[in-house]
Amino acid sequence: MFELKSPVHASKREHYEDLVQQARGLLAGERDPIANAANFSALVYHSLPELNWAGFYLFDGTELVVGPFQGKPACIRIALGRGVCGTAAQTRETQLVRDVNAFDGHIACDAASQSEIVVPLVKTDGSLLGVWDVDSPVIDRFDEDDRAGMQALCAVFMEAVRG
Ligand code: SME
Repeated sequence: MFELKSPVHASKREHYEDLVQQARGLLAGERDPIANAANFSALVYHSLPELNWAGFYLFDGTELVVGPFQGKPACIRIALGRGVCGTAAQTRETQLVRDVNAFDGHIACDAASQSEIVVPLVKTDGSLLGVWDVDSPVIDRFDEDDRAGMQALCAVFMEAVRG
């Protein structure tokens, strides 16, 4: 059985480095994207402080559809270009939103969410798998260390599902 480790970290960067190693171990040897997305969501949600939602929106060829996640029930479908998730999917750039109330078009699935980070998941052939979305009830929860850390975690996920 996989055991979540919660050692004390000297810094946020160190915490992400540890989390990347844990994600590698958790996903090793499994390519199924749904299985890996479910475990990945649980790992991140239960390892990082001050989160109220962490999960996937998967691209079905037309729009984003909610996938495995941890947190309260969420909006099911998001059009490309809409909200923070749709913007990340369309621009293929990580969206770091320090205050969702100031983001024009933000989709409030959970009224508790105050800040958000969304990483686009792009396959090696350039096509879109979906996005990785993490919400916090705290304004300004995410910074550049979170951007780098979340992107590194998503790289582990993409590598695992690629096989
Ligand atoms: N806030 C997101 C919608 C998804 S929920 O946060 C789970 C957005 O604006 O795209």
